[in-house]
Amino acid sequence: MKIAIVGTGYVGLVSGTCFAETGVNVVCVDIDTTKIENLKNGIIPIYEPGLEALVTKNAEKGRLTFSTNLCDVIEDCQAVFIAVGTPPDEDGSADLKYVTAVASEVGKCMNDYLVVVTKSTVPIGTANKVKEAVQKSLNERGVNIPFDVASNPEFLKEGDAINDFLKPDRIVIGTESEKAEDVMRRLYKPFLLNNHPIYFMDIPSAEMTKYAANSMLATKISFMNDMANLCEIVGADINSVRKGIGSDSRIGSKFLYAGAGYGGSCFPKDVKALIKTSQEKGHVLSILQAVEDVNDRQKTVMFKKISNHYKGNLTGKKFALWGLSFKPQTDDMREAPSLVLIDALLKAGAEVVVNDPVAIEECHRRIGDVVKYSENQYEALDDADALIVITEWSEYRNPSWKVMEKMLKEKVIFDGRNIYEPEDMKIWNWTYYSIGRAIVK
Ligand SMILES: NC(=O)c1ccc[n+]([C@@H]2O[C@H](COP(=O)([O-])OP(=O)(O)OC[C@H]3O[C@@H](n4cnc5c(N)ncnc54)[C@H](O)[C@@H]3O)[C@@H](O)[C@H]2O)c1
Repeated sequence: MKIAIVGTGYVGLVSGTCFAETGVNVVCVDIDTTKIENLKNGIIPIYEPGLEALVTKNAEKGRLTFSTNLCDVIEDCQAVFIAVGTPPDEDGSADLKYVTAVASEVGKCMNDYLVVVTKSTVPIGTANKVKEAVQKSLNERGVNIPFDVASNPEFLKEGDAINDFLKPDRIVIGTESEKAEDVMRRLYKPFLLNNHPIYFMDIPSAEMTKYAANSMLATKISFMNDMANLCEIVGADINSVRKGIGSDSRIGSKFLYAGAGYGGSCFPKDVKALIKTSQEKGHVLSILQAVEDVNDRQKTVMFKKISNHYKGNLTGKKFALWGLSFKPQTDDMREAPSLVLIDALLKAGAEVVVNDPVAIEECHRRIGDVVKYSENQYEALDDADALIVITEWSEYRNPSWKVMEKMLKEKVIFDGRNIYEPEDMKIWNWTYYSIGRAIVK
């Protein structure tokens, strides 16, 4: 079986590599020539645990190849997956220009039946736009070649993407023909051996499922963050509350951690896009508007704590900031809370020295030399007034407190991910701020 995956980012590269791992002949296509050249030379454009080894292995076996031109490689493909970006437009709706550009390209060069599969996260109704774009190109060529469209939203998590793809909680596929269903079933069969479910449904339901899933997860986070802020006011501890509610099987224990707000390439843009769809359709999802508002506010909570501690005067203060990526195990900084905090600290006249296990290069690409970079988490503390933790990388969880004490000017920590225990901080005489828990002084 041969397929093409167009868009070789987090989703396209991981999906393509994992399909190749099952023996499928996969061509990953991207318009970014540097990315494709690098991949041909074994250089992986993103940090994703386990990905490099799997790409190398499948490329060496000849099952995984890379190209900048879909038309050069489309021959014999049974499916073309569209996995390009769908960034928010100015009004918050998903910008579909990359998706439809690929669909037009497919129509320009396909020569035989294939399934055009949307893997990008796209608003309800996009499959129809894809169908129209492919058909328009075919019409312009004056040819009549049958094809089907399908929706196959992706649920992988950055940082654990390979595992998620190889052992999915579920696979969701929207189709409107048995032929397309058959192609998709054959492709995914190797991933279903341990009873991972595959759900076939109509295309609008598949498209909606992805937005509903991300919106539900974002809602859980904003709910807990808002609860955390109230906990601080009423003297409750959000971690105890989390345990108390998480043991209720109707609620579940996952995704209940309070923090400095959600970021990443998916939750912020998908929540925005679904709000936009709901507005356009005249059924406003006010619950999601609240989720977004709470998250925007939550990204400023750490700065407020810091500013309050220093009585509003941060001029000349120096902060060590641990963690840049929007979550651990990735170098992705799209919509990362760290960026909002850095910006606020700099505007307030503070100096910031940052450390991250993998995202320093990405941070430098985004904001340049407005902060200082430290490859060593302890050196970042040198002569700093306080430590701020904004991403919960595991190497920050159990640090050398003796070294930290020596390096910092004062024993002050602002913990945006609740990774330390207030009881320990009290015993060891640290001033400790966290989220949804009492201040330790
Ligand atoms: N990142 C995630 O964790 C995740 C998870 C599930 C779903 N998604 C969705 O998957 C889609 C892709 O996300 P991503 O994070 O992989 O994006 P990304 O930005 O990492 O990658 C997108 C790639 O598409 C390429 N591209 C754009 N236009 C192209 C064209 N016409 N032809 C060929 N290549 C083109 C870009 O050069 C880029 O390499 C988005 O819709 C996203 O919402 C992402």
